[in-house]
Formats: sequence, C-alpha cells, structure tokens
Amino acid sequence: MSLAMDWISAPAGPLRGELVVPGDKSVSHRAMMLAALADGTSRIRGFLEGEDTRATAEAFARMGVRIEAPSPGERVVHGVGLHGLAAPARPLDCGNSGTGMRLLAGLLAGQAFDATLVGDASLSRRPMGRVIEPLTAMGAHIASEPGGLPPLRIRGGRKLQGIAYAPPVASAQVKSAILLAGLYAEGETAVRELRPTRDYTERMLGAFGWPVACGPGWARLAGGGRLRATDVEVPADFSSAAFFLVAATLVPGSELRLRSVGLHPRRTGLLAVLRRMGADIREEAPRDQGGEPVADLIVRHARLTGIDVPEALVADMIDEFPALFVAAAVARGATTIRGAEELRVKESDRIAVMARGLRALGVRIEERPDGATIEGGALGGGRVDSAGDHRCAMAFAMAGLIAETEVRIADCTNVATSFPGFIDLANGCGFALRTIAE
Ligand code: S3P
Repeated sequence: MSLAMDWISAPAGPLRGELVVPGDKSVSHRAMMLAALADGTSRIRGFLEGEDTRATAEAFARMGVRIEAPSPGERVVHGVGLHGLAAPARPLDCGNSGTGMRLLAGLLAGQAFDATLVGDASLSRRPMGRVIEPLTAMGAHIASEPGGLPPLRIRGGRKLQGIAYAPPVASAQVKSAILLAGLYAEGETAVRELRPTRDYTERMLGAFGWPVACGPGWARLAGGGRLRATDVEVPADFSSAAFFLVAATLVPGSELRLRSVGLHPRRTGLLAVLRRMGADIREEAPRDQGGEPVADLIVRHARLTGIDVPEALVADMIDEFPALFVAAAVARGATTIRGAEELRVKESDRIAVMARGLRALGVRIEERPDGATIEGGALGGGRVDSAGDHRCAMAFAMAGLIAETEVRIADCTNVATSFPGFIDLANGCGFALRTIAE
C-alpha cells in the first residue's frame, strides 16, 4: 500500500514537444488474459506498466502462468492452455481495477477450482451485480457482499451453458466477462448491447484464433475451442493522451505531438466533442498497428465554446469526462452532459468529484444524477480532492495549469494505476507539477 500523495499544479506553459503516452490499459488486460490461456508463448509489446495491468499479470502468475518481463513494456507469457490454470493459494487482488475484476470473474467462472477476487477500497464499492447476474444465468456460482459488492467468491467445477444476453448498461466489461465465460460454456454465447462499446475482447479473441462473429453492438461465439499464442503490439492509450489533448488546447501558445495514439472509434468520442467545441487537433501518419488504427495527434491551443455533449457519444468517451469537465470550465458559455450516470460508479463518483473540485476553484456547476451543466469562465486556484481517482487527479492537474494561482490536489497516488510516469512526461512538456508526501 503506497502512501497518500498530494500534487501541486501551478500555472505554466506553453506546452511544447513530442510525447509517447503509455500503452492502452484495456488492450493490455486482454492481451495478458488471452496469452495466459493460450497454447504456446506470446510476446506482448507496449504492455502498460500500470498497477491495474500488473495486478492482472500477477493474478495469472499466482495461477501458475510463467510471465517474463525482458524489458519495460514487454511481457513474454508462457500460456498454459484454456484448462491449464492452477488453483490460487490466496485471494487474487485486482487492486483498483474494475476491468481486471469483471473480466477475471468471467473467465474464472468456468474453471475447475474455487477462486476469490478482492480489490482496494474503491473497487470494493463498485457494482459487480452486472456481471454476477449473467454469469449466474450461465450456471456460475458467485457469492458477493450485500449489494453485489466485492470480494467475489467464485466456485469452481460448474458446468456453464451459453446464453443470449442484453446487458442493461452499455459496458465493455460486462460484455467481455460474458464472452470470456462463453469460452468455457456449452453451446453459443451471444451479447447484444444498448450501444456499441469497445470490441477489444472480440477482436483479440480473433487474433488468438478463436472464431467470433461480431458487429457494432453484438458479438457471438461458441465454447469448447483453443486459443493459439500470438504476439500483440499494444497502442498508446487514447485515454492517457486525452489529458494532453485538453491541456495543450487550453494553454495559449501550446503545440504538442502525441505519437502513435490508438484511435479505436469506440474510444475517441472526446476528439469529436473537442473539435465541435473548436479544438485544433490534426491526425498525421494514420496507420494500422496490430489491427488497431493509430495516428500521431498534433494539438494546438484554441479557444473553446461550450456545447451540449451528444448522448450518443457518451459511451465512446466514458473515461474522458474528467478531462472534459476541465475543458468545459474554461470554454465560452455552458457545456451540458446528459446520459452519463455510469460516471457515478467509476473509480469514484466522477460527477460529484469533478463538480466539487471545480466549484472549489470558482466554477459554476449544476449537478444532475446523469450529468452536469458547467458554466465556462476563469479558474481560480485552491484545494481539490481527487478522491483517489487517477483520472480526476490528472484532470485537476490540467486545471492547475490554467488557474490564476496554484491548485493543490489531494490523494493522487492512484495515477500509477493507469499512467506511470505522468509527472515527468507532463513536466517535460511544460507543466509545473510537484508532489508532496502526506
Ligand atoms: C473498459 C470499459 C469501460 C471503461 C474502463 C475500461 C474495458 O468500463 O470505463 O476504463 O477495458 O472494458 P465499462 O465497461 O464499465 O463501461
């Protein structure tokens, strides 16, 4: 357990330079999981060295998978085959990671052994009923704390049946948990979504040789096959790049080049929204990297105007709202967010945490159950609390850059879950960010 750490972000800039942000979190989790269950040895390049994805790797190491780390961001995974995992001696710790816990719940539901999944204080408050319910319908036995909260105690030796399921929330994690359980189920497993979400699980299963039929908003597979080892190149995480896209947009005189950023269409809602607000972001050298669209993004300062964020884009930018709140706080006019109630069950209640923090900096915000209206204006300095949420901490660091005086941000340790090295990268391009150990 690391010590709580505060940050101070002081007004600075312009931001200049060329950066490479770390590997994609969603892709890194899935690459590790499928490589561990494949026949043969897979090499993953660009693996996110964050606490979330390392927790997933550690879970497989505890189930007998040999994983080498020849260099930072590189993993060589000696897969044990679909039925080759060993019973873990102790509960598996998913740390802060909802993706880790929900996807592991799906694939552990079909094992011969019992396993328990635990998490940190934040993860222990997050809803798991959304995966318990469909997995139980498939024949799994999963006990939770009241209200469907972790820890999850998953009983082994259950015979799973494929199902056709339409989750009540648009969630790639729920879809993925069901599909991963479907690998172990008899017959066909099908998921139909409210709105299309990121399809990394489907596409990566394909890359590991498992036939999946899928299209926007639906996926179908049959159980009883094998995964074949393959090499995976993980693109840079758009959700990490997002902070620099917003920061360079907001600080006058800035120009940043973000290299080889993953531009999966179900991830880039923020690009569309920032452009509608007036941002100047260009894509250069578009190319395919391991089946994923990537490009260099060149972002220059621009004045933003508030908009009504289209509800249809919410799922495509679900992790980018903390950054958008800050952009909206300095845009001309009001920005309205609706249909984003999922933000309340992320690593923190992101609507409440961002509203409280920005209010402390003098912003007018009307909060609603499914979103907020943010009146743009000037940002004062002051003290805010990230509530241990990595993305809120990094968003408040953007606020400090453009505030009148410095912003002190409480509880920033968890930035290491998704963005190790954030402070050095940020300071290298012009931030004035420093840490204070509590
Ligand atoms: C993720 C899906 C999203 C996202 C999370 C990563 C994934 O969560 O917020 O950071 O890798 O599948 P939901 O499925 O809960 O929307």
